[in-house]
Amino acid sequence: MIMKTFLSLTLAAASLSVSANENSPIRVSTDDTEMVMTVSGNGNLVHNYYGKKFKNVLPYNTKEYREQPDNGAGYAPQAFPAYGGYVMISPALKLIHGDGSHTTHLKYVSHSVTQPEEGVTCTEVKLKDPLYDIELTLIYTAYGKENVITQSARLTNNEGSRLTVENLASTYLPLHADSYYLTHFHGVWATEMQLVEEQLQPGIKSIESKRGVQATQTANPAFLLSLNGPAREDAGEVYGGALAWSGNYKLTFEQDECGRMNVVGGVNDFASTYYLDNGESLTTPEMVWTFSNRGRGQVSRNLHDWIRHHSLSHSDMERPVVLNSWEGAYMDFDEKTITDMIDDAAKIGVEMFVLDDGWFGNGEYARNTDHSGLGDWQVNTQKLPRGIDYLAKHAVKKGLKFGIWIEPEMVNPKSRLAETHPEWIVKSGNRDKLQIRQQWILDLTNPEVQDFIVKTFDDVMGMSRDISYIKWDANRFVTDFGSDYLPADRQSHFWIDYTKGLYSVYDRIRQKHPDVMIQLCSSGGARLDMGALKYHDEFWTSDNTNSLDRIRIQNSTNLFYPAIATASHVSTSPNHQTGMTAPLKYRFDVAMAGRLGLELQPKHLNEEEWAFAQKAIEAYKKIRPIVQFGDLYRLKNPEDGTGWASHQYVSKDGKEAVFFAYSLKYHGRTTFFQTRLKGLDPDKQYRITELNKKDWPSFYGDGKVFPGDYLMNEGISLGIGNNFDSTVLHIEEI
Ligand code: GLA
Repeated sequence: MIMKTFLSLTLAAASLSVSANENSPIRVSTDDTEMVMTVSGNGNLVHNYYGKKFKNVLPYNTKEYREQPDNGAGYAPQAFPAYGGYVMISPALKLIHGDGSHTTHLKYVSHSVTQPEEGVTCTEVKLKDPLYDIELTLIYTAYGKENVITQSARLTNNEGSRLTVENLASTYLPLHADSYYLTHFHGVWATEMQLVEEQLQPGIKSIESKRGVQATQTANPAFLLSLNGPAREDAGEVYGGALAWSGNYKLTFEQDECGRMNVVGGVNDFASTYYLDNGESLTTPEMVWTFSNRGRGQVSRNLHDWIRHHSLSHSDMERPVVLNSWEGAYMDFDEKTITDMIDDAAKIGVEMFVLDDGWFGNGEYARNTDHSGLGDWQVNTQKLPRGIDYLAKHAVKKGLKFGIWIEPEMVNPKSRLAETHPEWIVKSGNRDKLQIRQQWILDLTNPEVQDFIVKTFDDVMGMSRDISYIKWDANRFVTDFGSDYLPADRQSHFWIDYTKGLYSVYDRIRQKHPDVMIQLCSSGGARLDMGALKYHDEFWTSDNTNSLDRIRIQNSTNLFYPAIATASHVSTSPNHQTGMTAPLKYRFDVAMAGRLGLELQPKHLNEEEWAFAQKAIEAYKKIRPIVQFGDLYRLKNPEDGTGWASHQYVSKDGKEAVFFAYSLKYHGRTTFFQTRLKGLDPDKQYRITELNKKDWPSFYGDGKVFPGDYLMNEGISLGIGNNFDSTVLHIEEI
């Protein structure tokens, strides 16, 4: 996948500009959607439209259209409103020019279209201020089949003096409807992605992060915006947006006095003033947009396809079943604990063993608790005298792959690293550095720190040729930001430069280690965004492994991010985070809807549980291609208050599907669950087999054949209705 990115850059450079006619509308089109911009009589770049694709020739290039009044009173929203002139909404651009002026007027100069790869077009529109020599390029990349348009902006200062960038957004989108409903996600550690849908009112609603590093722990930069009513699953106009940035962000939804919704999204301008010297440029992260007039179900499918085709690493590779050592061993292990776990993992059908935290640091800095060791990435010779290579080889001998945990951006005060390089640690001048989880953050704005992290990754990979997976963690956010590396008058560059430093490290690592699988983890899902995802193979969805909570967390997460990347592990009962007890079947049925793994000590399973787990893993391997590469259809929304959740994956060729249903509460003796299936062919016959059966099947038709139109119209009913009842069905065309 990463290779694809490099390739597309090369092709892009070789492509020719194919269009630069300022009299015709600028159309950024995908198979089913389009965005239209025009140049108004006074030279403004006007945003006309983003929605369903037009069938006909547009009226935009008539003289009358082009000369309609544009006084900023609501007729013609600019494509990228800069503060100045009539722009009174939250602007997408706010500059202070070299002479102290706070206003900017952007006028269209030219545009060009290139085709970086088959099915993808890139439209660049150049704008300039007639008075000040700055250039703003708006970059729209349209992905035909996936119906995704990404937007970013590049600002160049040619004024001859220093330019102050107070705000430079990635995107601005004006919309007009009777009402607007925003679905967004809040959370906290082990409770990520809690869905809220609200009707937006006149005024401003903002979703933002000011915490750096763990930018998505309390809110995610992904949202749904539904027009004229709450978002429905299969009908209605819904926009999906997700910012590809792993630092502070801000999404602003401003309903203005004309009833228009103005969406501005990008890097958070909070304490983030950026200075450009003459000749310097600043490029924003991408905002990923999709639109569907068939409800939010299609929004999810568009984004999943886009991520699988254009973002995620190794996205055409089936993900292995993992046993991660954290909840099964924590930091309390020796060599035998680990080799025993590997032996058990092999017997139960696991394909990848991951050694979590606790394997490094020595002497007084041994990582036996979270108080010490971070930064000292040498194997703990007391716990693991024969090193990592011995463990990795042992795994390979048993038929498993081997992975290992690192947290390379962090340092414990109790470590050799903290003693040797105090100047590498994030801090605000002479203020005492605050600790979170007994750790500090390394200053990634500093190229020496970037080199250190790349070297850490290399060194760990160098511990064994049999390491094929890295779990990259980041367990705290930024407090009292500041850098010893950045000059005093550039401290506000910290937020942007940290994330750019991180991406540069990711880039270098991916070039050097293109094959290794990397998990994106930050105390669970505290760094889950489209920007980081493209360097990774998957993410640790949440430290909360409690199945009942995971149903909602995974449902929200999978609105945007696909199941193939959603690491979902069966842990022990009672659950370590919540104390809740749940049957093993329920725990498996929930975890099998994502990238299945285990997060437990296999020795703690009794004989019956062991046999169940072994069979469930075997069943997962059968349905894995449908879950990981198929289309997601949500059937019953866990947020709707009815106490049910259900969804389905359908293979791309439509020949197979897998169905999941969960009871979230006790429904009463006579209640049963009934739902219609989706995505099948009404003219085909399907055999349905129930998986993970406990004592008896919950579906009366287990093993029987049904016509597609029956399944999609009358639907199926299931004998589930108690707390922790669940059903998994494998549906195969015959
Ligand atoms: C974080 C991760 C966990 C585990 C611990 C180890 O909390 O999310 O999965 O790796 O760190 O310290």
